[in-house]
Formats: sequence, structure tokens, C-alpha cells
Amino acid sequence: MKLYADKNKAIGEKSPMIFGHFLEHFHRQIYSGVYDPGNPLSDEEGMRTDVIEALRKIKTPIIRWPGGCFVSTYNWKKGVGKNRAAVFDKSWRVEDTNEFGTDEFISFCKKTGCEPYICTNAGTGTIEEMSDWVEYCNLENEGEYAKARIGNGHKEPYSVKYWSIGNENYGSWELGAKSAPEWGRLTVEAAKLMKHVDPSIELSSAALADIDWNVNLLKNAGRYIDWISIHGYWDFPSQGGELSDYDKIIEKTGNLDDAVRKVRGLLDAFGVGKKIKIAYDEWNLRGWYHPNVHTIEQGRTKEDYLYPRDKNDLNSSYTMADAVFSACFLNMCMRNCDIVKMANFSPAVNTRGCIFTYKDGIVLRSTYFVFLLYANLLGDIVLDEWETESMYLQNGIKKTDAVVTYFSETGNYAIAAVNRDGEAESDITLCIDASGDVEISYISGADKDSFNDIDRTEIEVLSEKLGRYEKGMKITLKPHSVNVISIAEIGTRGGIR
Ligand code: AHR
Repeated sequence: MKLYADKNKAIGEKSPMIFGHFLEHFHRQIYSGVYDPGNPLSDEEGMRTDVIEALRKIKTPIIRWPGGCFVSTYNWKKGVGKNRAAVFDKSWRVEDTNEFGTDEFISFCKKTGCEPYICTNAGTGTIEEMSDWVEYCNLENEGEYAKARIGNGHKEPYSVKYWSIGNENYGSWELGAKSAPEWGRLTVEAAKLMKHVDPSIELSSAALADIDWNVNLLKNAGRYIDWISIHGYWDFPSQGGELSDYDKIIEKTGNLDDAVRKVRGLLDAFGVGKKIKIAYDEWNLRGWYHPNVHTIEQGRTKEDYLYPRDKNDLNSSYTMADAVFSACFLNMCMRNCDIVKMANFSPAVNTRGCIFTYKDGIVLRSTYFVFLLYANLLGDIVLDEWETESMYLQNGIKKTDAVVTYFSETGNYAIAAVNRDGEAESDITLCIDASGDVEISYISGADKDSFNDIDRTEIEVLSEKLGRYEKGMKITLKPHSVNVISIAEIGTRGGIR
């Protein structure tokens, strides 16, 4: 495949927030995940320092919290203050101790160096509870909630900029689900209240690539919201928890822009395509495994609905298929960087996350290395690119998925290139006017089913220097690999921390 790009033909500026993450009060994401008091690896607040360090290494820009379905029955007021009662989490049918609440989340984000993004309860919650939460976080000292934050030992406002109205309130599985007309009206009134508290916040509203839902949302609330929130999972475990294999996964990378294309069309139709941005604020190849709870008939025993969730922790599930898929998804976000300004990997820690925790440490799963490469080595501008002599897999999908980025400050280039082929190498000929030394950093694993686990490292970032760049240079990509090819003058190339 021959790859062309011109620094004067840019798609747009890549928002760092497309490398964002999500944490939910589900299974082991919070408790024994990021929050593990008593573990020697945790700090004085009970937060896992090894997790924080790993998230800092991938420059985590933003974390969405506390859900997800969890939030649709979450009462944030019970998660602050000195006396916190444990509650029964009706969404996931487990007890939540409330030890980890708003103050702890904000502290975790400060330690990680990322923006907090709070999703509010539009299921059982009220629009007043949503705006009270904004008062608690963002008012200096006016009113009872800002004073409560100060009384809880946090004098300075948290200045939380990003807020979401609801989670997937369109879905029958969501507690407190809403109809399309209800949702449009609720979003307007919630937005008015929340922005009356702090007009500087940016609001997203739960949506999907559905015309009826979005027509009601945009007709009623288009003037009040700044983001439209969509979610995507592509491989749902069978009832027994089995996941699709590599070749099946690669087929799923053929139309990753489907939802973005539909939402973009609706936003343009309503004339708000330049105002409202897309937040893909939950995405993962793998749907989470939680049988007999998103159903009408609920599981009756813990063997039915609770213990099977431990299957999410099987590290052998997360192979090069996950890394190749995730890189293709992020490439899609970059190709749409004019409108996709946030994406949140779902989740960051445990369940299907890129980091797995156990009592003595962490496992960096294959997807972690995609963020390690992309967040550290790609440029700020995404260039329009075109190809000739493309090669295709038997299923008709392009063998190589490439995005060209440019560093506006240094004039360097970095190409994100994925070889989808599970067996064969793939050649990419660079036909770009550039100068500098060429270095390729990549992950590929021993084979397409490679994975990392406790005391098992099959996937890590490797790098090779390829000499001075010449236009027409041919580079060979390993099978099932995610690569960043840098063209940079000596000493000006970014690095992996
Ligand atoms: O499977 C986890 C759930 O996926 C999240 O809680 C929800 O937002 C989405 O449906």
C-alpha cells in the first residue's frame, strides 16, 4: 500500500480527550481496583499508586465516573461526608459501601493528572439532585452544598468542567429509562438548572445513533448541550461468557465509523454540527460479562448473576485482537477529529479494562500498549491521507489501517499504522514530503492470541531505528501489529515515559 498525505491538507486538531477512560462502580473497577485501602501498594487515601502511575504513563486526559448503569440509581449525596451508609446498588444488585464518592474521585483524578467527567443520575434521580451536585463541586461557598464540601475538608471548588445528563436512559435495561419525548424535555430542564449553577460547565446528554431519540433531543435541547454522548461495544459474550476469535473481531473493524456518520448527519441536519461535539464516552471491543441482570427475569442466585462476573478478569481474554481493534477504533476517532472530541475506554481498570489489578501488582493488558503508543507518539494535527495499491484481506477489509499525524510545532510526522492480517506481514510505502530519522514503535505479540498475565509478558512495546527518511521508503509491518512510525529530526521525537 502506498500512503500519501500533505501537511497543508489537515482534517483537524486531534483532541487529547479521545484517549480518555471510564470507571464505573461495577465488579472490581473501584473497590480492589483503583481503591484498595490496606494494600501496601495504596497511598494514604487507599488509592493504588501503581494504577495511578500506569494511567499517568498513558497521559490519561479525562475519566468519566461513576457509571454507566450504576449511576441511574446512584444518590451522590450518600457518597460524601463523614458518615456514609452502605447502600444497595439496585443496578448491579450488590452493596456499595460509599467509601469511594465524589471527593475520592476528584482526588484520584488530581493524582492521575486528568480531568474529572461526572455522569449524573437521570434514572431515579431528579434534575435538582443533578444541579445540587454541580453546586457541591463548583460553587465557591454559596448554599448548603458548597458549604458541605468545605465542611468535608475541601475548601477550594473542584471546577468540574464536564458533566453528562444521564447514562443510557434510552435502553430498556437502564433503571429509570425514558421515552424519546421525555428525554428531550428532561435534558432541557436539567441543563437549565445545572448551567444556572455554573454556566462554564460543558454538558453532554445520553444518546445513540437513533433518529427518533436524537430528533427529540436536538429539537428540545440542542441549544443547551455541548456534547452528544454515544456508546459502542462490538463483541458480546455468549451466555457462557465465550468471546469471538481474532478473525471474527477483524471483521468488526470494517465499519467502526457507522454511529459517528449517522450522528454527524443528524447534527448537521439540525445545524448544530459545529456547536455540538461527539463524546464516544463508553467504547470497548468487548461487552462486559454480567449475565441475568440486563434481563426482565433477574438471576435468582449469586451463581446466576454475580459470580460469573469474575470471568471478566480472565486476562487470557484480552489478546492482540483487542489491541488491533482498539487501534482501528482510535484511528476512526482521529479521522473524525473535527467532531469526535472525546472517547472513553470502557473501563480503564479491571472488567474489560487495559489495566488488571491483583493484590501484589498490576497486569498491563494488550490494549494498554495502544494508549502507550498513541498518547505519547502521535502528533496534534490529523492530516487527510489517501492511498494507492491498497491490499485487502479475504473478508474485503483493508489489510492496513493508517492515519497520518503532524506535529504543528516541530514539523515532524507520526503515522499510526495497523496491520489487521493475523498471519502475514504488510508493506506500507510512505509517499509524504518529510525529512528526519525514521523510528517504528510497535506491539505485535508472539501470535494473534498473545496476552499478558501475572508472571507472563507476551506483549510489550518494541522500537527499531530505520535510518534517514526518503520519500518512497517501504516499511514492513508485522502480522497483527499496531505501529507508530515517526519521522523526526534527532532530538525532536516524543518518547514513551
Ligand atoms: O456493560 C456495562 C454497561 O454498558 C454500562 O454500565 C452501561 O453504560 C453500558 O450499557
